[in-house]
Amino acid sequence: MSIILRAASSLILALFIALASLISITSTLAADKSSALNAAAHTGATFQPPSEADIPPGPFGETIRMGRDIMLDTPKHAARFVGNNLSCANCHLDAGRMAGSAPLWAAYVNFPAYRAKNGKINTYQERLQGCFRFSMNGSAPPLGDPVLVALEAYSFWLATGLPVNKEVAGRGYPKLEKPAQAPDFVRGQVVYAAHCALCHGANGAGQRTTGRVVFPPLWGDDSYNWGAGMGSINNAANFIHANMPYGMSYSLTPQEAWDVAYFMNAHERPQDPRWLGSVETTRAKFHDSAMSLYGQTINGKVLGNTGAPKRTQPKDQAHIAP
Ligand code: HEC
Ligand code: HEC
Repeated sequence: MSIILRAASSLILALFIALASLISITSTLAADKSSALNAAAHTGATFQPPSEADIPPGPFGETIRMGRDIMLDTPKHAARFVGNNLSCANCHLDAGRMAGSAPLWAAYVNFPAYRAKNGKINTYQERLQGCFRFSMNGSAPPLGDPVLVALEAYSFWLATGLPVNKEVAGRGYPKLEKPAQAPDFVRGQVVYAAHCALCHGANGAGQRTTGRVVFPPLWGDDSYNWGAGMGSINNAANFIHANMPYGMSYSLTPQEAWDVAYFMNAHERPQDPRWLGSVETTRAKFHDSAMSLYGQTINGKVLGNTGAPKRTQPKDQAHIAP
């Protein structure tokens, strides 16, 4: 082989290698990009809930559909039990189907379960009651109420094929490591202005068009109350890192997610319905954790010091698990 030919062929080889590595780099980038699109990435979840086309006909299918509708527009389909402007699906994305966004199928197969929050074994319906009381700032539907039955039927159907009583990849939110620096209000404010305010508003109140909530409120009177799971900084940081900004999962650094979760939960929201007459006693009993800012002084104000809950819970709720 002549020297020129050999040089040419090694050049072609070099070009080939360069091209191949370019292709592998771009395909890794593409994979990163597509995996960055939703919360399911980084959860290891492989389970696929059935598609809506597979909802069975007849009364059972109708109840499943009702459960899905309640998830998507809770103030409309479960009005009696809702005290704010949120819907379940604002926090359980894709109508409760999305892995890494506390999907209902993963929850359903893991109840009944003990919950430290109320110190007893909770059935699935009792778990759902808690969502209405805290996340929806409303009141718990009585056990067996059509609203709870529909949500249970929908969750049961989504879980088709999953083994019961077995942890499943994709449950809850992927857990963030503890932050390198303690979560901080001022750093969180900067993250909020850059990555959240566009949709949720500078004042955290969200946005509506013609009465419909397009971007849900993060704090204030129309948001989740002080007793909600999202009110814990760790839950909020985990949720935000995997799910927000909407459509840009995992784009914030873990530190940014912790900081903005702190900032979000350092604002006023509806009173904890378990209110014991003062913010100090309520904090001591229900918020004795570094992850809750309830009863803490932020910018010179004690959070949660807003008096008794505005929405009075129906009297017959007293026996219901908190
Ligand atoms: C403001 C956000 C928010 C809203 C609104 C909300 N949830 Fe949740 N939900 C959470 C968070 C956060 C958790 C995890 C809480 C925890 O670990 O304490 C959770 C947990 C759950 C669980 C248990 C998940 C598991 O794997 O154990 C179920 C079931 C559930 N929610 C259903 C609902 C339903 C039904 C609604 C509407 C009636 C609703 N949620 C409204 C934030 C929300
Ligand atoms: C592009 C618009 C957009 C941006 C930017 C965005 N969000 Fe959201 N956010 C949404 C939408 C839409 C939902 C409801 C999702 C659904 O219903 O499917 C939501 C839901 C939420 C929720 C749960 C519901 C509630 O109101 O409590 C929280 C918490 C949240 N976002 C926090 C954040 C934070 C923090 C940031 C910035 C890091 C952020 N979001 C950026 C659009 C956005």
